[in-house]
Amino acid sequence: MSGPDRGRGRNREGRPARRGTPRRPAPLRPVAGAKPVDRARRAAFEVLRQVHDRGAYANLALPALLGEWSLSGRDAAFATELCYGTLRATGTLDAVLAAGSNRPLSKVDGPVRDALRLGAYQLLYTRVPAHAAVSTTVALARSASGAGSASFANAVLRRVSTSDLPGWLERLAPTDDAAGLAVRYAHPEWIVRALGDALGGDEGDLTAALTADNERPAVHLAARPGRTTAAELAERVGGTVGRLSPYAVYLPGGAPGDLAEIRDGRAQVQDEGSQLVTLALADAPLDGPDVRWLDLCAGPGGKAALLGSLAAQRGARLTAVEVTEHRATLVGKAVAGLPVDVLHADGRTVGERPELPAGGFDRVLLDAPCTGLGALRRRPEARWRRQESDLDDLVALQRELLAAACRAVRPGGLIGYVTCSPHPAETTAQIAALLADQPGLTQLDARAALDAVTPEAVQGLGEGPAVQLWPHRHGTDAMFLALLRRDAGE
Ligand SMILES: C[S@@+](CC[C@H](N)C(=O)[O-])C[C@H]1O[C@@H](n2cnc3c(N)ncnc32)[C@H](O)[C@@H]1O
Repeated sequence: MSGPDRGRGRNREGRPARRGTPRRPAPLRPVAGAKPVDRARRAAFEVLRQVHDRGAYANLALPALLGEWSLSGRDAAFATELCYGTLRATGTLDAVLAAGSNRPLSKVDGPVRDALRLGAYQLLYTRVPAHAAVSTTVALARSASGAGSASFANAVLRRVSTSDLPGWLERLAPTDDAAGLAVRYAHPEWIVRALGDALGGDEGDLTAALTADNERPAVHLAARPGRTTAAELAERVGGTVGRLSPYAVYLPGGAPGDLAEIRDGRAQVQDEGSQLVTLALADAPLDGPDVRWLDLCAGPGGKAALLGSLAAQRGARLTAVEVTEHRATLVGKAVAGLPVDVLHADGRTVGERPELPAGGFDRVLLDAPCTGLGALRRRPEARWRRQESDLDDLVALQRELLAAACRAVRPGGLIGYVTCSPHPAETTAQIAALLADQPGLTQLDARAALDAVTPEAVQGLGEGPAVQLWPHRHGTDAMFLALLRRDAGE
């Protein structure tokens, strides 16, 4: 996953995103004589405002609002569909709305723009009757911004409703190049190009990857080794044992935070791909001592908790480093009771402080801050918030952290370089540059290491020696893993 605050510099309205707990927008003004908008649509609208006006994360803001407004069952499901669907499809909706509007969308008030997106989403992507989509959008626009905005919204949505989605796509995105695919599959064009490069130019594969980004992922749990098993956990939570990780359980639905097994530390929410890359590093063959482990970028602590559970079984000890204080605290909570020392520090200080001695570790995990392009399914707004210009700083930080990981590992020891992004600049190119710069490193076949930890052979891992997982192939986030050994005697 990406670093928490990266790419949050500006909101979609071009203003600097404010941080901290997002303030709720002012409640909608009741309008005399107007039918009130149902609470599900209002909840979706409120969260869109928080995301676009305040830089909030929908996957945190929406559950909080649903709880606050006591929305459950069908209302909660409808609000979630509208909110997440509208956020994912924002670029495509904006292209359609721009074509249906007589003024640039950038000149439209933020609340009216969000109401229009919500309305266009219902018209183009759902079976909501057109009259309901239009009338509720007009009501939202009126209460947020007055009668003039209401008639503007009415006119725009009437034009949008003159065609269905395939018709609009045919008109706005007739080509199959990156620009056309960007509109068709609701991704920024630079992300379409990056995914295409990572997939090696196979168009069918690319459209499958783009499609998978628009689907809601299943919730994956990891049974903590030594505390429970996948079979036991699946039975208790009514889930299914995972296909690829021996600790994975797929959850049918519901709020995983409510599960007793999560609260008491027997299990954690963790993508199966994250489990796999962690296990591949932990189990890769290693000569010599194997008791000092390091997680150089540990927050919020998912991989540290899995490594810590394995360390407890094997008599090893993990040092978990995290630069952000709040996230270091989360790591502390995640690893409670495990043989893990949490260090609130910059991972680049290896060799400069006694807790991070140069050559002091047998296995080093570097789960680097990255663009997070491999987890777009989980954060509906992330693809529009992340900018291509974020890449340079991230790649430079990854390079420095990789250098630190190389200093930290002992001769003969192993490094696992992981990103939740398939972007070549963060993955294959990063490793190629490292190997060109640093003598005394050998890249191992991570596919073999991964195969050794899975109950069934995993297909489609890429050309190697690194591993690239994909949502459309493996049902996991698009995790990348390169395994490196520091040559003995180096
Ligand atoms: C991809 S996330 C790690 C996810 C984590 N391994 C897990 O599985 O829960 C990257 C983390 O690196 C942290 N980070 C960024 N720069 C860092 C640095 N210089 N030193 C240590 N941690 C850093 C970020 O705050 C973020 O928590």
